[in-house]
Amino acid sequence: MQLSVIGTGYVGLVTGAVFADLGNEVICVDKDEEKITALRAGIMPIYEPGLEEMVRHNAEEGRLSFTTDTEEAVRRSEVVFIAVGTPSLPDGQPDLSQVEDACRHIACALNAPKVIVNKSTVPVGTGDVVRRWIEQYAPADHPPFDVVSNPEFLREGSAIYDTLHPDRIVIGAANQNAAMKLIELYAPLERPMIVTDVNSAELIKYASNCFLAMKISYINAIARICDLSGADVTLVAKGMGYDKRIGDQFLQAGLGWGGSCFPKDVSAMIATADALGYDFQLLKAVKQINEEQPLYFVGKMRNALGGLDGKRIAILGLSFKPNTDDLREAKSLQIITALLAEGAEVRAYDPIAMPKARAIFPQITYCENAYDAATGCDAVAVVTEWNEFRQINLEKLRQSMRRPLLFDGRNIYNPQKVKQAGLEYYGIGRSANTAPFARAASQ
Ligand SMILES: NC(=O)c1ccc[n+]([C@@H]2O[C@H](COP(=O)([O-])OP(=O)(O)OC[C@H]3O[C@@H](n4cnc5c(N)ncnc54)[C@H](O)[C@@H]3O)[C@@H](O)[C@H]2O)c1
Repeated sequence: MQLSVIGTGYVGLVTGAVFADLGNEVICVDKDEEKITALRAGIMPIYEPGLEEMVRHNAEEGRLSFTTDTEEAVRRSEVVFIAVGTPSLPDGQPDLSQVEDACRHIACALNAPKVIVNKSTVPVGTGDVVRRWIEQYAPADHPPFDVVSNPEFLREGSAIYDTLHPDRIVIGAANQNAAMKLIELYAPLERPMIVTDVNSAELIKYASNCFLAMKISYINAIARICDLSGADVTLVAKGMGYDKRIGDQFLQAGLGWGGSCFPKDVSAMIATADALGYDFQLLKAVKQINEEQPLYFVGKMRNALGGLDGKRIAILGLSFKPNTDDLREAKSLQIITALLAEGAEVRAYDPIAMPKARAIFPQITYCENAYDAATGCDAVAVVTEWNEFRQINLEKLRQSMRRPLLFDGRNIYNPQKVKQAGLEYYGIGRSANTAPFARAASQ
């Protein structure tokens, strides 16, 4: 099939590469000329395992190409994906101006019947808005087109895998022909597909992301109760997770959710509900718990260190989660800002996100590795759970430190092992004095 993807970011580039890999002819479009020039030269704008090889291979085979000329790409395609950004406006509503801009270009290039597929995350009702925009900008005698909602569920860091093995493919279409095009396109993946009306598909995306955010905020609230009562949240979560109705995923207490999706999708859902006349109090609490969590962590450091002024602190991990260099809404940003505001000195290490972080925090020290970051520090704080921190040599880490305090913002360590290495351990919801035999028996 001949496709184009407007917006060559995380979603657009991965979608384009995977569809090309499945044998389609795909044109990826972006208005960012530098990005397109780099992609033509085989340079990826983002870090994503397996992406570079897949892009290079399909570009060499002639199935994947890059352009800034949206209209030419649309003219050559029967299916056009919109995968532009939908960032938050100050009131929490998503900014749809990039979607509108894409629609304007599509409208001007309608040379034959087309299926316009919205992959960007947009509030319920946007399908109708997209149709109106295209009709408004297209010539009066334009050929027919369908608008389909096909929300994206990939996770940064495993985007290629997720696109090839989605839990489900959601297709929201107003008629069978349009739905069939998408079914045909996705058929080689052999994954469950659900076909709905456009509004329901749009809402499935928000309802899913907000539910996952709620699960994380819920276990973080339970962690607060663990800290107050002396229970261990990792054991509580394990005991809950065996219940099939609950499940064990997204039940890891820590610093909360960040990234480009959950924060903006939760805000958008609250704003959309408000606009529709429903006060979504549950989701407002989910958001508030999440905003408090990094400050609660900084509070733990302040208490244990007797103030932060003049303290030297190592931050391990800057990206919002492992396997990405994405810093959008990363917890490190809130934590480092709070530490600097209270007069602490920050030394940071992240396997890949340091170049991006330098632009935000030029005043902190960037280090070669975790041990280098810990040198002369009063405390080490794990903020992103990169694998290389899990198996760190804790004794070696302690040897270079001024004071032996370890703050485990992602609960990745066994507190007993940390203590055996001569470090004081501070996790999230893990102040329990659980007997070692109990923890060992639950591994
Ligand atoms: N990143 C994720 O993990 C993820 C997951 C699921 C859904 N989504 C959703 O997918 C959408 C895209 O997200 P992303 O992370 O890929 O965004 P991104 O910011 O990485 O990429 C968007 C790209 O669109 C380009 N663009 C903007 N307007 C354009 C236009 N008119 N014509 C051509 N190019 C244009 C930008 O230059 C940019 O390269 C968002 O709605 C997001 O919420 C993202």
